[in-house]
Amino acid sequence: MKYGHFDDKNREYVIENPKTPYPWINYLGNEDFFSLTSNTGGGYTFYKDAKFRRLTRYRYNNVPVDDGGKYFYIKDGNTVWSPGWKPVKTALDSYECRHGMSYTKFKSSKNGIQSEITQFIPLGFWGEIQKVSIKNTSSEIKKIKLFSFIEWCLWNADDDMKNFQRNFSTGEVEVEDAVIYHKTEFKERRNHYAFYSVNQEINGFDTDRESFVGLYNGFDNPDVVNDGKPKNTIAHGWSPIASHYIEMELQPGESRDYVFMLGYVEVDENDKWESKSVINKQPAKQMIEKYNNVEKVDAALEELRLYWDNLLGKISIDSGDEKLDRMVNIWNQYQCMVTFNMSRSASFFESGIGRGMGFRDSNQDLIGFVHQIPERARERIVDIASTQFEDGSCYHQYQPLTKKGNAAIGGDFNDDPLWLILSTSEYIKETGDFTLLDEMVPFDNDESRAKSHFEHLKASFYHVVNNLGPHQLPLIGRADWNDCLNLNCFSTNPNDSFQTTGNKKDGQAESLMIAGLFVTYGKEYIKLCQRIGNEKEAHEAQIHVDQMIKAVKTHGWDGDWYLRAYDYYGNKVGSNENEEGKIFIESQGWCSMAEIGKEEGMVENALDAVKEHLDCEYGIVLNSPAFSKYYIEYGEISTYPAGYKENGGIFCHNNPWIMIGETMIGRGDEAYDYYTKIAPSFLEDISELHKVEPYVYCQMIAGKEAIKPGEAKNSWLSGTASWNFYAITQYILGVKPDYDGLIINPCIPKKWDGFKMKRAFRGATYNIEVSNPDHVSKGIKELRVNGKLISGFIIPLLEKGKAYDVKVIMG
Ligand code: GLC
Ligand code: GLC
Repeated sequence: MKYGHFDDKNREYVIENPKTPYPWINYLGNEDFFSLTSNTGGGYTFYKDAKFRRLTRYRYNNVPVDDGGKYFYIKDGNTVWSPGWKPVKTALDSYECRHGMSYTKFKSSKNGIQSEITQFIPLGFWGEIQKVSIKNTSSEIKKIKLFSFIEWCLWNADDDMKNFQRNFSTGEVEVEDAVIYHKTEFKERRNHYAFYSVNQEINGFDTDRESFVGLYNGFDNPDVVNDGKPKNTIAHGWSPIASHYIEMELQPGESRDYVFMLGYVEVDENDKWESKSVINKQPAKQMIEKYNNVEKVDAALEELRLYWDNLLGKISIDSGDEKLDRMVNIWNQYQCMVTFNMSRSASFFESGIGRGMGFRDSNQDLIGFVHQIPERARERIVDIASTQFEDGSCYHQYQPLTKKGNAAIGGDFNDDPLWLILSTSEYIKETGDFTLLDEMVPFDNDESRAKSHFEHLKASFYHVVNNLGPHQLPLIGRADWNDCLNLNCFSTNPNDSFQTTGNKKDGQAESLMIAGLFVTYGKEYIKLCQRIGNEKEAHEAQIHVDQMIKAVKTHGWDGDWYLRAYDYYGNKVGSNENEEGKIFIESQGWCSMAEIGKEEGMVENALDAVKEHLDCEYGIVLNSPAFSKYYIEYGEISTYPAGYKENGGIFCHNNPWIMIGETMIGRGDEAYDYYTKIAPSFLEDISELHKVEPYVYCQMIAGKEAIKPGEAKNSWLSGTASWNFYAITQYILGVKPDYDGLIINPCIPKKWDGFKMKRAFRGATYNIEVSNPDHVSKGIKELRVNGKLISGFIIPLLEKGKAYDVKVIMG
């Protein structure tokens, strides 16, 4: 069952039924200022950091779901309704929510009144615009009362929901003209305030929640709206809100437009006050002025559209399959940019107060957006590398506002360092910018301990070499990519965290996943060493990589697939000998991508085993059989019921590793089959089961052993976005940037006749047309650039500013 449809021309998903199986959200904002907006008007806004600078309040895990947001109430006679359906939930005559590229539009109607709301954040602006238009489509004169509503958060979203003994007494506001200012803590320790304005005169306002809503009411039934008149309250403590009240009389056919703005202002320490206790409103007034009419707003919206044209224009395909095209051309790239902005901080599953930026997550996200925003990608790499230590280890997470490592979580996730080699090599391949390797980058954010970025990569590489276990395989530390396989830090204390409980000092557990990762990015490290003329180091590194390959072949092969790990006691994990958890996806993915034992048939065997044991209708599960018992020595993983999360769930992030592995042995049908199983646009028809948005990837789909296989959770902020984009564009469609040019080496389903891709690369544009007359999966018979035959798979670097016709014949 569907709840809407894709509008590819406008790059929108159009929701036609407000009662989606879960709130379906969108993100507004591209730089410093962001909002999350659900299809019924729920969500919140923050500046840079969803924990420390939360502008509006949101209650997670609320009953009913997604209650609280930026709401409008329309009172038309005795009927009260909301353009986004919620919070009032009056049945609407029509409803449509269009989630587009960094904007959301609601269009709805009731009793001859039509409302249209467009929400977005102009580029480079610290404010959200809500363009509201109300039209009388009836043949009678209509008297309408419009109420806006937001609830302020007292800045620190974590403290805001816990520290009530203080917070109920701190809230402060000011109201001047049609602008409501939120200034809690402004006089003491904050040089920032927020405001909510509208570009016209108002007939009243409210700023005290209890007065507006009524202590025993919900947002669906506020006293002030029911009474049809504002109380003009000024909040002192309790919960400050901002609500404008506007009366309008509309002739038949007449419409009114309003521009609301929710803005954030920082003022100079010496310039905070206009007069005693009155805040300096000049900066806010300038912001309001900037978009005080519909023309200015529309121009900013158009600018935003062009911004996305440019970002999305760098890679686009025409495959003949609209579901694939809309993933690659629109939604997957869009989601990659959202993960760039948010990492894992704020979604409807990430509360914005938990995780900041992850070392491994942010490095991996980069491979999904580096072609769109190379300069910002470079900056991101440096930010991440700055939280590393000299021995190559690193903080697992850092806070976006301070960019400092998060000491409470700490480090010792031994896969972390290697992802820096992935992001760096992909950045250089995309841009050709080797200067990054020479940039001085601090360790632990201490400038006095800065060394070249190359030294960071070296430290990453040797962190593995210097931390090998009894089988000469990498020590896992607290966990590798799989946060829940905690082989060295288990505890029986229910109050301990699985991941951060004290790492066993003599922890000997080893990871085959890190082994594969090390071989894959060790090879990349060697290439980089060669590029910068450091043959000695390349030679030295090669020895370590070769030793690792040997260790995997000797101690990491279970007969039909790669083992997953050795646990603290030296026992095998992910072996046929185990009763449960006999096979895991991560080591199959990474050792296949590393092509370890390919000649001996290991890769093919392992991938066959994945197909046999892990594949199911909805994707590839993480391990099989899922754990039904609790294994304390495995940490968190077996705490999940079978089929969920890291215990036999379809953890979408790692499915592309298998897709890429399949392309290594030329199996395009298998690779693409795995791709379509989890690509959201291919799941639109089963939305009622899948539950989350059909336009973005989610972290997890319940696996074959779950109670409800196919049900997905945790949409948006997942490495799934970047890895799937990387797998489909660079390995299945096979257009891959490299140091000296663009590699063309598709691995597609045999039945395809071909496809087209437009790819911007190092300043030139490549119009690539692949044809597949012999219906093969892999192999190129002929490659021509502007008619000229090229031997091999690489188009050498060509002149910037020009477009080239690339014709590829497979066979
Ligand atoms: C989550 C984490 C990621 C981890 C994965 C598997 O997606 O963000 O860092 O690798 O889970 O546990
Ligand atoms: C939990 C989740 C895992 C996530 C981690 C983040 O362990 O299961 O997916 O990566 O939390 O800390």
